[in-house]
Amino acid sequence: MQLTNFDIDVFLRDYWQQKPLLIKNPWDSWNAPLEPDDLAGLACEEGVESRLVTQTGVCDGWKLEHGPFPETRFSQLGARQWTLLVQAVDHYVPEVAALIEPFRFIPNWRIDDIMVSYATDGGGVGPHFDQYDVFLIQGLGQRRWQVGQLCDENSALQPHEDLRLLANFDATDEWICESGDILYVPPGIAHNGVAIGEHSMTYSVGFRAPSRSELIGYWADDLLAELKDDDRYGDPKLKTQENPGEISQDAIDRLHQMMIEKMGDRAAFARWFGQYNSTRKYPDVDWREEQPIGIEKLREYLTDGMPLHRSPASRFSFIRQEANSVLLFVDGEEFSCTDENITLAEIVCGHDNIIIDENLLRSDSAMALIAKLYGQGSVYFDQED
Ligand code: SIN
Ligand code: CO
Repeated sequence: MQLTNFDIDVFLRDYWQQKPLLIKNPWDSWNAPLEPDDLAGLACEEGVESRLVTQTGVCDGWKLEHGPFPETRFSQLGARQWTLLVQAVDHYVPEVAALIEPFRFIPNWRIDDIMVSYATDGGGVGPHFDQYDVFLIQGLGQRRWQVGQLCDENSALQPHEDLRLLANFDATDEWICESGDILYVPPGIAHNGVAIGEHSMTYSVGFRAPSRSELIGYWADDLLAELKDDDRYGDPKLKTQENPGEISQDAIDRLHQMMIEKMGDRAAFARWFGQYNSTRKYPDVDWREEQPIGIEKLREYLTDGMPLHRSPASRFSFIRQEANSVLLFVDGEEFSCTDENITLAEIVCGHDNIIIDENLLRSDSAMALIAKLYGQGSVYFDQED
């Protein structure tokens, strides 16, 4: 499915990270990839992150439960005012993963996952704001979306332990989204979606953006591992000072230098960031095939035209280096690529379906790289294609 009625350049110039936009069914032909029962099934599975939000109707009461749920849970809920939300459905359903493709004008490293929600009449998760950009695609049925004020950490919240619901919601715009419509909401903008009618399903193509605190915190954690205890402040040629209580400008300069020497290493930061950011959303889920693959077998499969794909849970990006090389990052692993492996890195980062040409097929280093990616469960052969 393609977005045929959507101007990417205008969107990036006037809306992305700035203001909400309703995009009325822009698809060439829209087909919702999931049925409500498929979503309920996923929410019963161990290892899949899911939530159930129910409105009790008493004093604006909201209740949050975490999955996995027993199958019987959904039949106890009644016909109104509940929402089931399942995270990273793209990891499990290729047709849902395909919904990311039209949004690839945003780089891979900013993409988080596709969350899918199913809501019954009057159901929603309440007025809130998110830290991230999101495209809310209405899959099935209808949902009334309101957007409101720009929020931040100081915005007042309702006194609820688990749900971060806004105490005040000033709606500035309102739309009824129908099957195929897309609402873009930038970070921090208050929004509230309420299902209209029996079955309302929404696909949230969600993005991520690192906070300064996670960059500093996690990078510093990584640096700590390589820092030695005897790498220490020194003050040879110490000068006398008037007041022993003063920490001199000179001392501060030297101390600060110790910090920025490490933190200012751009190349080291790039390597660290590539690995950190390409770590899978759920690193504990094992996507490896039972058997690793050897280069000869791999070459044979590829020569036979067996389709090779990126695993939907995997994260791929690369960083160009100054010399003729690129660093490829896949699922938290770094691969230093030169010569034909540069082309390979560009191919695997640019396309879900990996097309290997004659030149790469002949290259042992390209085959070895693919074999490593296969061995860590980052690419797989689709035997059924
Ligand atoms: C929903 O799908 O109900 C919630 C999505 C969101 O508000 O981010
Ligand atoms: Co939201």
